Amino acid sequence: MHDLFYYDWRVTKFSLGTHAYVHPRIALRNAEKLTDLSAMEKDIIIKHMWGATLGMPKYKETVVVSLVDDYAAVDEYLMPQLHKLAHPFHRLEHAHE
Ligand SMILES: [Fe+2]
Repeated sequence: MHDLFYYDWRVTKFSLGTHAYVHPRIALRNAEKLTDLSAMEKDIIIKHMWGATLGMPKYKETVVVSLVDDYAAVDEYLMPQLHKLAHPFHRLEHAHE
């Protein structure tokens, strides 16, 4: 639920702050419309961008979710970009397959 927002962060920009700051607050509002949340769950949603945002986690579970989210972002976004840089002709090499 920490990323429960319905806009394209690459297109939509907010005057209130960066996507890193705004989307956890939007996600929390959307999550609260769907279900009751514990204090820990709210902390996890609001602070899952810890490091990019300043709010300190209150729970070790918040730290875990934030670190796993960082790992997933690197794995899903950065690693494919690095792979493209390391293998610029990969597509051409496999075009005949
Ligand atoms: Fe997020």
